[in-house]
Amino acid sequence: MTITGLPLPVPPPERGRDREGVIGHRSQDDPHPNPSLFKGRERTCAPGVAAAISLILFATSTLAAGNVAAGRQKALACQTCHGLDGLSKLPEAPNLAGQPEPFLINSLNDFRKGVRKNDMMSLVVQQLSDQDVADLAAFYAAIEVSLKAPK
Ligand code: HEC
Repeated sequence: MTITGLPLPVPPPERGRDREGVIGHRSQDDPHPNPSLFKGRERTCAPGVAAAISLILFATSTLAAGNVAAGRQKALACQTCHGLDGLSKLPEAPNLAGQPEPFLINSLNDFRKGVRKNDMMSLVVQQLSDQDVADLAAFYAAIEVSLKAPK
């Protein structure tokens, strides 16, 4: 692409695309090494918007990016007590199947923070990352349960 001959600061139409997408693009006749610092005002907005959007995406992804398939794999470490299907194998351990995802996340994080303590769980959660917690919660929450109340 060449922009030679077009009067600045009015950008040619193609440059509009550059602003949204390519970072660090510069034309051959650009005397400045970093266009985002030296070009006119029309460039300053896009990086800010892009940064804001990626910040939002980052924030939401760290909060709720639970992956059911990954959680299924990680849940193998929990099956001795909570069962492969989320139904408890131990009288002391609760069923995890179908529990609300936010509740599972909060419970696991409470154990991790030491707010909630249990001889077994406090030990188990030491191995878990934020991503593990999100994946495990997504997996157990996705298990469908059917219930039958006693007569
Ligand atoms: C050695 C047995 C054992 C293992 C392994 C184990 N847990 Fe637990 N878990 C327990 C027990 C016992 C409790 C009940 C704790 C209490 O009474 O506060 C519990 C409680 C929980 C709770 C709280 C649920 C609620 O309804 O309050 C969650 C969530 C949980 N476990 C998730 C996991 C996950 C995820 C794993 C695997 C990474 C795991 N546990 C592995 C024994 C175990």
